[in-house]
Amino acid sequence: VEVPSLQKVYESYFNIGAAVNLRTIETQQNLLAKHFNSITAENDMKFELLQPEEGKFTFERADKLATFAQTHGMNMRGHTLVWHNQTPEWVFHNSQGEKVTRDQLLQRMKDHMNTVMQRYKGQIYCWDVVNEAVTDEGPELYRRTKWLDIIGEDYIEKAFEYAHVADPDALLFYNDYNESNPGKREKIYQLVKSLVEKGAPIHGVGLQAHWNLTNPSLEDIRAAIERYASLGLKLQLTELDISVFKHEDKRTDLTAPTAEIIELQTQRYQQVFELLREYQEVITAVTFWGAADDYTWLNDFPVRGRKNWPFLFDENHEPKEAYWKVISF
Ligand code: G3I
Repeated sequence: VEVPSLQKVYESYFNIGAAVNLRTIETQQNLLAKHFNSITAENDMKFELLQPEEGKFTFERADKLATFAQTHGMNMRGHTLVWHNQTPEWVFHNSQGEKVTRDQLLQRMKDHMNTVMQRYKGQIYCWDVVNEAVTDEGPELYRRTKWLDIIGEDYIEKAFEYAHVADPDALLFYNDYNESNPGKREKIYQLVKSLVEKGAPIHGVGLQAHWNLTNPSLEDIRAAIERYASLGLKLQLTELDISVFKHEDKRTDLTAPTAEIIELQTQRYQQVFELLREYQEVITAVTFWGAADDYTWLNDFPVRGRKNWPFLFDENHEPKEAYWKVISF
């Protein structure tokens, strides 16, 4: 049977994206070209990959992904500029090994953004400027990171200001996970609201959407979309995957998803996309954190070595039942 293109079916709704790496742009090339009109670098545009040593930029890998996007007429999202993870230690220390000052760290942030964003100006239309700055723990708002420790709470608005100067045409996003959990949702909302009120150049909220068969509930997803959208910003699902395990399921012995699991995942994808279509005015892109079940970061998370099957396409790049539900409406 003829398999319609996902990206074409959703053309009038939102962009359909996939996270990619140097291997998947080879092994999944045809699938990506047919079904996706946007890509995000899974790792290759993170700080430690782009600037492993001070002033020494390594763009080879990132450039290959940007060229792949261009060759296939795809959009590209930039991921990510300011994050606590995958940022090299040198950023936070001077040559004597002492902690840098606030001004030095702000300067390094600015230099990194200028170099990276200007290089991909016109190719990357949208950046995750700050990633995962909100803590999951307790009542505190901010995740404790070196950025926060050295600069202070305004490191986030500074990041948006610098990003806007570096590429005034880029759409600037705040991106986070557990975004539909009511407690975390309110913290993200407060953070983004304060940025908007301060006049920071922020254009959108990225909902990572690392979901599973049971969590978050559809009601919580809807509530999160409504809450963030009330700030007048655009929303994107930036890292969607639906793990085949229920939240509490820690089993490690599956070699293939059971019929029950397949059915639950199919329903879940159908319901999720039904909901997303309702919000087509505010949701501008839905990016999966991968493309097909032959490769996913979830193969190691949260249980090392446990396999997972989180996408709409199977290990042979054939559409799963979930795919047919997602395109029939
Ligand atoms: O490249 C090295 C390799 O040289 C080394 O031999 C190997 C040994 O462990 O590690 C390789 O690096 C790994 C890297 O992925 C590239 O494969 C890192 O260990 C591994 O930690 C890293 O994982 C990435 C993770 O971010 C790191 O935080 C995942 O691929 C990537 O999918 C994941 O993506 C994040 C988003 O950026 C932010 N939101 C959550 C999402 C999932 O965790």
